[in-house]
Amino acid sequence: MTYTPPLRAAGKRAFITGAAGGLGSATARMLARHGAKVFLTDLEGAPVAALADEINAELGAQVAWSATQDVREEDTWKQVLDAAASALGGLSVLVNNAGIGSLGGVEDIKLKEWHRVMGINLDSVMLGCKYALPHLRAAQPASIINISSLAAFKVDPDYTAYNTSKAAVAMLSKSVALDCARQKIDVRCNSVHPSFIRTGIVAPFYEALGEEEATRKLLRGVPLRRLGEPDDVAYAVLYLASDESRYVTAAELLIDGGARAI
Ligand SMILES: NC(=O)c1ccc[n+]([C@@H]2O[C@H](COP(=O)([O-])OP(=O)(O)OC[C@H]3O[C@@H](n4cnc5c(N)ncnc54)[C@H](O)[C@@H]3O)[C@@H](O)[C@H]2O)c1
Repeated sequence: MTYTPPLRAAGKRAFITGAAGGLGSATARMLARHGAKVFLTDLEGAPVAALADEINAELGAQVAWSATQDVREEDTWKQVLDAAASALGGLSVLVNNAGIGSLGGVEDIKLKEWHRVMGINLDSVMLGCKYALPHLRAAQPASIINISSLAAFKVDPDYTAYNTSKAAVAMLSKSVALDCARQKIDVRCNSVHPSFIRTGIVAPFYEALGEEEATRKLLRGVPLRRLGEPDDVAYAVLYLASDESRYVTAAELLIDGGARAI
Protein backbone atom coordinates (compact mmCIF):
# COMPACT_ATOMS: atom_id res chain seq x y z
CA MET A 1 0.00 0.00 0.00
CA THR A 2 1.38 3.44 -0.86
CA TYR A 3 1.33 6.25 1.68
CA THR A 4 -0.46 9.42 0.56
CA PRO A 5 0.60 12.38 2.72
CA PRO A 6 -2.29 14.48 4.03
CA LEU A 7 -2.96 17.86 2.43
CA ARG A 8 -1.25 20.27 4.80
CA ALA A 9 -3.81 23.10 4.57
CA ALA A 10 -6.99 21.05 4.18
CA GLY A 11 -10.00 22.96 5.48
CA LYS A 12 -8.14 26.29 5.72
CA ARG A 13 -9.78 29.39 4.26
CA ALA A 14 -7.13 31.92 3.29
CA PHE A 15 -7.16 35.58 2.28
CA ILE A 16 -4.02 36.74 0.42
CA THR A 17 -3.19 40.32 -0.61
CA GLY A 18 -0.84 41.25 -3.45
CA ALA A 19 -1.71 37.86 -4.92
CA ALA A 20 -1.01 38.83 -8.53
CA GLY A 21 2.69 39.30 -7.72
CA GLY A 22 5.57 36.85 -7.57
CA LEU A 23 5.37 35.71 -3.94
CA GLY A 24 1.59 36.15 -3.60
CA SER A 25 0.78 34.00 -6.63
CA ALA A 26 3.19 31.23 -5.53
CA THR A 27 1.59 31.30 -2.07
CA ALA A 28 -1.93 31.16 -3.53
CA ARG A 29 -1.05 28.11 -5.65
CA MET A 30 0.74 26.42 -2.74
CA LEU A 31 -2.14 26.83 -0.27
CA ALA A 32 -4.76 25.78 -2.83
CA ARG A 33 -2.75 22.70 -3.87
CA HIS A 34 -2.60 21.76 -0.19
CA GLY A 35 -6.36 21.85 0.22
CA ALA A 36 -7.11 25.45 1.25
CA LYS A 37 -9.78 27.64 -0.26
CA VAL A 38 -8.22 30.96 -1.22
CA PHE A 39 -9.50 34.50 -1.72
CA LEU A 40 -6.99 36.54 -3.70
CA THR A 41 -6.81 40.31 -3.94
CA ASP A 42 -4.56 42.78 -5.68
CA LEU A 43 -4.53 46.35 -6.94
CA GLU A 44 -4.32 44.72 -10.38
CA GLY A 45 -7.73 43.10 -10.83
CA ALA A 46 -7.18 41.35 -14.18
CA PRO A 47 -4.11 39.23 -13.31
CA VAL A 48 -5.48 38.22 -9.94
CA ALA A 49 -8.78 37.13 -11.56
CA ALA A 50 -6.79 35.16 -14.16
CA LEU A 51 -4.82 33.47 -11.37
CA ALA A 52 -8.02 32.42 -9.59
CA ASP A 53 -9.34 30.96 -12.89
CA GLU A 54 -6.05 29.12 -13.42
CA ILE A 55 -6.13 27.60 -9.93
CA ASN A 56 -9.76 26.51 -10.35
CA ALA A 57 -8.96 24.95 -13.73
CA GLU A 58 -5.91 23.13 -12.34
CA LEU A 59 -7.69 21.77 -9.28
CA GLY A 60 -10.96 21.10 -11.08
CA ALA A 61 -13.04 22.77 -8.39
CA GLN A 62 -14.16 26.16 -7.10
CA VAL A 63 -11.37 26.80 -4.60
CA ALA A 64 -10.21 30.30 -5.60
CA TRP A 65 -11.97 33.65 -5.72
CA SER A 66 -10.59 37.11 -6.42
CA ALA A 67 -11.26 40.82 -6.00
CA THR A 68 -9.57 44.10 -6.77
CA GLN A 69 -8.33 45.77 -3.59
CA ASP A 70 -6.16 48.73 -2.73
CA VAL A 71 -4.78 47.69 0.66
CA ARG A 72 -4.46 51.35 1.70
CA GLU A 73 -8.24 51.85 1.78
CA GLU A 74 -9.82 51.17 5.15
CA ASP A 75 -13.41 50.91 3.88
CA THR A 76 -12.45 48.45 1.14
CA TRP A 77 -10.79 46.19 3.72
CA LYS A 78 -14.08 45.70 5.57
CA GLN A 79 -16.07 45.04 2.38
CA VAL A 80 -13.59 42.65 0.81
CA LEU A 81 -13.10 40.62 4.01
CA ASP A 82 -16.87 40.21 4.34
CA ALA A 83 -17.04 39.11 0.68
CA ALA A 84 -14.20 36.63 1.27
CA ALA A 85 -15.77 35.17 4.42
CA SER A 86 -19.03 34.74 2.59
CA ALA A 87 -17.39 33.07 -0.47
CA LEU A 88 -15.10 30.80 1.58
CA GLY A 89 -17.53 30.04 4.41
CA GLY A 90 -15.37 31.88 6.97
CA LEU A 91 -11.77 32.98 7.21
CA SER A 92 -8.98 31.18 9.10
CA VAL A 93 -5.80 32.50 7.45
CA LEU A 94 -4.76 36.05 6.56
CA VAL A 95 -1.60 36.63 4.48
CA ASN A 96 -0.65 40.31 4.37
CA ASN A 97 1.68 40.12 1.39
CA ALA A 98 1.12 43.23 -0.79
CA GLY A 99 4.13 45.52 -0.77
CA ILE A 100 6.29 47.89 -2.78
CA GLY A 101 9.96 48.78 -2.91
CA SER A 102 11.25 52.34 -2.73
CA LEU A 103 14.71 53.69 -3.40
CA GLY A 104 16.12 56.63 -1.48
CA GLY A 105 18.34 57.63 1.43
CA VAL A 106 16.93 59.82 4.17
CA GLU A 107 17.91 63.10 2.48
CA ASP A 108 16.47 62.11 -0.88
CA ILE A 109 13.10 60.80 0.17
CA LYS A 110 10.04 63.01 -0.27
CA LEU A 111 7.44 62.92 2.49
CA LYS A 112 4.77 61.95 -0.05
CA GLU A 113 6.77 58.86 -1.06
CA TRP A 114 7.43 58.00 2.60
CA HIS A 115 3.66 58.04 3.26
CA ARG A 116 3.00 55.93 0.13
CA VAL A 117 5.45 53.27 1.31
CA MET A 118 4.08 53.27 4.87
CA GLY A 119 0.51 53.14 3.55
CA ILE A 120 1.09 50.09 1.38
CA ASN A 121 3.71 48.22 3.43
CA LEU A 122 2.65 48.99 7.02
CA ASP A 123 -0.77 50.65 7.46
CA SER A 124 -2.32 47.93 5.28
CA VAL A 125 -0.97 45.20 7.57
CA MET A 126 -2.51 46.89 10.61
CA LEU A 127 -5.84 47.30 8.77
CA GLY A 128 -5.79 43.70 7.61
CA CYS A 129 -5.15 42.39 11.14
CA LYS A 130 -7.73 44.71 12.67
CA TYR A 131 -10.58 43.88 10.32
CA ALA A 132 -9.79 40.20 9.81
CA LEU A 133 -9.66 39.45 13.54
CA PRO A 134 -13.45 39.15 14.06
CA HIS A 135 -13.52 36.61 11.20
CA LEU A 136 -10.44 34.74 12.48
CA ARG A 137 -11.76 34.66 16.03
CA ALA A 138 -14.85 32.90 14.69
CA ALA A 139 -12.75 30.32 12.82
CA GLN A 140 -10.13 29.23 15.40
CA PRO A 141 -7.49 27.85 15.09
CA ALA A 142 -6.46 30.72 12.83
CA SER A 143 -3.24 32.28 11.63
CA ILE A 144 -2.00 35.67 10.43
CA ILE A 145 1.14 35.74 8.30
CA ASN A 146 2.72 39.11 7.55
CA ILE A 147 5.33 39.27 4.80
CA SER A 148 8.13 41.49 6.05
CA SER A 149 11.71 41.26 4.73
CA LEU A 150 15.32 40.65 5.68
CA ALA A 151 15.41 44.46 5.44
CA ALA A 152 13.72 44.56 8.85
CA PHE A 153 17.07 43.49 10.33
CA LYS A 154 19.81 44.22 7.78
CA VAL A 155 19.94 47.71 6.42
CA ASP A 156 20.74 48.98 2.95
CA PRO A 157 20.85 52.77 3.47
CA ASP A 158 19.40 53.36 0.00
CA TYR A 159 16.07 51.90 1.10
CA THR A 160 15.23 54.03 4.15
CA ALA A 161 11.42 53.95 3.89
CA TYR A 162 11.27 50.28 2.88
CA ASN A 163 13.57 49.15 5.73
CA THR A 164 11.58 51.15 8.25
CA SER A 165 8.22 49.84 7.06
CA LYS A 166 9.39 46.23 7.17
CA ALA A 167 10.93 46.57 10.66
CA ALA A 168 7.62 47.99 11.85
CA VAL A 169 5.75 45.01 10.35
CA ALA A 170 7.85 42.66 12.50
CA MET A 171 6.96 44.55 15.69
CA LEU A 172 3.31 44.92 14.65
CA SER A 173 3.15 41.15 14.12
CA LYS A 174 4.48 40.45 17.61
CA SER A 175 2.04 42.96 19.11
CA VAL A 176 -0.88 41.25 17.39
CA ALA A 177 0.40 37.81 18.46
CA LEU A 178 0.61 38.83 22.12
CA ASP A 179 -2.75 40.60 21.98
CA CYS A 180 -4.40 37.40 20.72
CA ALA A 181 -2.58 35.28 23.31
CA ARG A 182 -3.73 37.64 26.08
CA GLN A 183 -7.30 37.28 24.85
CA LYS A 184 -6.81 33.47 25.02
CA ILE A 185 -7.87 33.07 21.40
CA ASP A 186 -6.17 30.59 19.10
CA VAL A 187 -5.13 33.14 16.50
CA ARG A 188 -1.38 33.11 15.90
CA CYS A 189 0.53 35.89 14.18
CA ASN A 190 4.02 35.62 12.67
CA SER A 191 6.20 37.53 10.24
CA VAL A 192 8.16 36.08 7.32
CA HIS A 193 11.44 37.67 6.24
CA PRO A 194 12.64 36.79 2.75
CA SER A 195 15.86 38.02 1.21
CA PHE A 196 16.11 38.51 -2.55
CA ILE A 197 13.74 36.66 -4.83
CA ARG A 198 13.34 37.45 -8.50
CA THR A 199 9.87 39.06 -8.67
CA GLY A 200 8.41 42.39 -9.83
CA ILE A 201 9.72 44.17 -6.74
CA VAL A 202 13.39 43.62 -7.67
CA ALA A 203 12.86 44.32 -11.40
CA PRO A 204 13.91 48.01 -11.14
CA PHE A 205 17.19 46.90 -9.55
CA TYR A 206 17.88 44.58 -12.50
CA GLU A 207 16.89 47.30 -14.98
CA ALA A 208 19.26 49.79 -13.34
CA LEU A 209 22.31 47.52 -12.99
CA GLY A 210 21.90 44.88 -15.67
CA GLU A 211 21.61 41.13 -15.19
CA GLU A 212 25.15 40.24 -14.15
CA GLU A 213 25.91 43.15 -11.83
CA ALA A 214 22.50 42.99 -10.15
CA THR A 215 22.83 39.26 -9.43
CA ARG A 216 26.40 39.72 -8.19
CA LYS A 217 25.32 42.47 -5.78
CA LEU A 218 22.28 40.62 -4.51
CA LEU A 219 24.29 37.47 -3.80
CA ARG A 220 27.10 39.25 -1.97
CA GLY A 221 25.66 38.71 1.48
CA VAL A 222 23.99 35.34 0.90
CA PRO A 223 25.93 32.32 2.23
CA LEU A 224 23.93 29.87 0.05
CA ARG A 225 25.10 31.87 -3.02
CA ARG A 226 21.81 31.75 -4.88
CA LEU A 227 18.60 33.77 -4.93
CA GLY A 228 15.51 32.36 -3.27
CA GLU A 229 12.55 31.03 -5.26
CA PRO A 230 8.94 32.17 -4.71
CA ASP A 231 8.12 28.65 -3.47
CA ASP A 232 10.69 29.01 -0.68
CA VAL A 233 8.44 31.70 0.79
CA ALA A 234 5.24 29.86 -0.15
CA TYR A 235 6.40 26.79 1.84
CA ALA A 236 7.03 29.03 4.87
CA VAL A 237 3.53 30.46 4.57
CA LEU A 238 2.09 26.96 4.17
CA TYR A 239 3.77 25.89 7.41
CA LEU A 240 2.55 28.95 9.31
CA ALA A 241 -0.97 28.65 7.88
CA SER A 242 -1.24 24.98 8.82
CA ASP A 243 -1.73 23.48 12.28
CA GLU A 244 1.83 22.10 12.04
CA SER A 245 2.89 25.48 13.47
CA ARG A 246 0.30 25.48 16.26
CA TYR A 247 2.94 26.38 18.93
CA VAL A 248 4.52 29.13 16.82
CA THR A 249 3.45 32.71 17.38
CA ALA A 250 5.27 36.07 17.51
CA ALA A 251 8.08 34.46 15.48
CA GLU A 252 10.22 36.03 12.78
CA LEU A 253 10.82 33.36 10.15
CA LEU A 254 13.85 34.15 7.98
CA ILE A 255 13.90 32.77 4.42
CA ASP A 256 17.23 34.28 3.48
CA GLY A 257 19.85 31.70 2.53
CA GLY A 258 21.68 32.47 5.79
CA ALA A 259 22.08 36.20 5.06
CA ARG A 260 21.09 37.39 8.54
CA ALA A 261 23.92 35.39 10.10
CA ILE A 262 26.76 37.33 8.48
N1 LIG B 1 10.96 39.56 -3.88
C1 LIG B 1 11.78 39.85 -2.90
O1 LIG B 1 13.01 39.85 -3.06
C2 LIG B 1 11.23 40.20 -1.54
C3 LIG B 1 12.11 40.18 -0.44
C4 LIG B 1 11.63 40.50 0.81
C5 LIG B 1 10.30 40.81 1.00
N2 LIG B 1 9.46 40.84 -0.08
C6 LIG B 1 8.06 41.20 0.18
O2 LIG B 1 7.20 40.24 -0.40
C7 LIG B 1 5.94 40.85 -0.69
C8 LIG B 1 5.50 40.44 -2.09
O3 LIG B 1 6.39 41.03 -3.03
P1 LIG B 1 6.80 40.33 -4.41
O4 LIG B 1 8.23 40.02 -4.32
O5 LIG B 1 5.86 39.26 -4.76
O6 LIG B 1 6.66 41.59 -5.39
P2 LIG B 1 5.65 41.82 -6.61
O7 LIG B 1 5.92 43.22 -7.05
O8 LIG B 1 5.79 40.72 -7.59
O9 LIG B 1 4.20 41.71 -5.94
C9 LIG B 1 3.64 42.73 -5.14
C10 LIG B 1 2.15 42.78 -5.42
O10 LIG B 1 1.56 43.76 -4.56
C11 LIG B 1 0.58 44.45 -5.31
N3 LIG B 1 0.32 45.79 -4.74
C12 LIG B 1 1.14 46.87 -4.78
N4 LIG B 1 0.50 47.92 -4.22
C13 LIG B 1 -0.72 47.48 -3.82
C14 LIG B 1 -1.83 48.10 -3.18
N5 LIG B 1 -1.81 49.39 -2.85
N6 LIG B 1 -2.92 47.34 -2.92
C15 LIG B 1 -2.95 46.04 -3.27
N7 LIG B 1 -1.94 45.38 -3.88
C16 LIG B 1 -0.83 46.12 -4.16
C17 LIG B 1 1.16 44.57 -6.71
O11 LIG B 1 0.17 44.81 -7.69
C18 LIG B 1 1.83 43.19 -6.87
O12 LIG B 1 0.98 42.26 -7.48
C19 LIG B 1 6.13 42.34 -0.49
O13 LIG B 1 5.58 42.72 0.76
C20 LIG B 1 7.64 42.50 -0.47
O14 LIG B 1 8.06 43.62 0.26
C21 LIG B 1 9.89 40.53 -1.33
